[in-house]
Amino acid sequence: MSLKQVADIVVRGTAGAIGGGASLVLLDSTHTRLIHSSSWGLPQFYLRKGLLKADKSLSEVSNGQVVVISEVRGDSRIQYPELAAKAGIASLLGVPVTIGAVTVGSLRAYSKSTTEFTQADINFVTAMANLAAMGIRVHLLEQEKQKFEKAMNEAESGTALLRQVRSVTFAHPSEEELAHILDFYQIDWVYEPRSFPLTWESDRITEMFTPDFYLPALDLYIELTTLKQSLVTEKNRKLRRLRELYPEIAINLLYKKDIHRLLAKYGCGPLAQAKGQGIGKTLFSNVEIQRRVQELAQQISIDYTDRRPIMVGILRGVFCFIADLVRAMTIPVEVEFMAISHYEAKGNSVRITKDLEMDVSGRHLIVVEDIVDTGMTLNYMLHYLNGKQPASLAVCALLDKKVRRMAEVRLDYIGFEVPDEFVVGYGLDYKDEYRNLPFIGTLESPQVEVGQTASGKVVKGG
Ligand code: PRP
Repeated sequence: MSLKQVADIVVRGTAGAIGGGASLVLLDSTHTRLIHSSSWGLPQFYLRKGLLKADKSLSEVSNGQVVVISEVRGDSRIQYPELAAKAGIASLLGVPVTIGAVTVGSLRAYSKSTTEFTQADINFVTAMANLAAMGIRVHLLEQEKQKFEKAMNEAESGTALLRQVRSVTFAHPSEEELAHILDFYQIDWVYEPRSFPLTWESDRITEMFTPDFYLPALDLYIELTTLKQSLVTEKNRKLRRLRELYPEIAINLLYKKDIHRLLAKYGCGPLAQAKGQGIGKTLFSNVEIQRRVQELAQQISIDYTDRRPIMVGILRGVFCFIADLVRAMTIPVEVEFMAISHYEAKGNSVRITKDLEMDVSGRHLIVVEDIVDTGMTLNYMLHYLNGKQPASLAVCALLDKKVRRMAEVRLDYIGFEVPDEFVVGYGLDYKDEYRNLPFIGTLESPQVEVGQTASGKVVKGG
């Protein structure tokens, strides 16, 4: 029996016993938001009401306590009291779902008539919550026997539970590919997290916008549009309205072209098999590169006088840059290299393939990258290196492709900003070619071969 099935049984049983609805919500890895995992007897608009904040929605439950609310209307412990009333919810009982001493979520029972919950009700819902917790635990044990220790560590942060409980049906293969890539880099995501009302007629919402993804750790929404460029105008209008109405949210819109380029980087999508058409234009000549590298080296030498930094190059693209950079520096430095695995397919996870050889604790580290694109590589590396307790950790990147950033990472030294194009030369490759060019150029747009689908699978015929 899958964990999802256990969760469904728990919410149905709870709803049946209380005579209303029930839902199981789990804390995300930041322990600040609650994600719906399974529910029964609740209207769709209530489930899609928006992200639940752990400190706004029955916060005591997230802290391990039982909450009983006999009259939902106007109760400040509920994040969306009006919507609860609209959904016909009169009373509510919330109990924590705990694994060991850790609260990983809550089971909520909703009653349609005003109810004074009895101790027997509380005991029953607590028993169901324990059943959910046991289901989660057994499932983790069965599925991850060999990785038990690791899984339980992750379970404490809720990440592993979220990944296993949700069963998502993606609207488009590109969305699924992106979800797998985010999983690879261990970046939490929620699919279609909430719907933002855009227009109203009196009290009725007449238009909504539901972004495809939300990345809780980065507080970022991502919308993928697979529409033809000519049909994108309507989507752009909605997005403008969204930004006007909700200026506090950060959202990235990826057009079809952007998605294809992004997926190609990981060997997926229609451009994965595409042939490069040669160099399009030179972005930075060797003279320009050398001048900028000298400036960076000079600046770092000033900033790190008497600190003897360790320059940590991330292989392989960095080899030209780091060689020129350290040779232009005027202070003593040490050099180290690291490498991580590349995304190959659904289910694999990023890992270090070449680790540091020296002890870097208490040392000043400067991570050197040829390019920072989505930021996911660097995000992972910085977390890893922070764990080594260096005295300081800075980043020097020759190229910054800011427009494609997904993981926000701080860059201390930047050579040049580059557009969202395939960039090659001076260490950077396209399918392992062009690394030895002395300048940096853009690749002519790779052409998709006839007969490929949007997901990159080659099909017969047109
Ligand atoms: C490039 C580059 C960075 C990474 C940045 O490496 O060297 O390490 O991409 O991309 P991100 O910000 O989107 O994570 P690549 O994976 O192409 O390997 P390579 O260095 O061996 O060419």
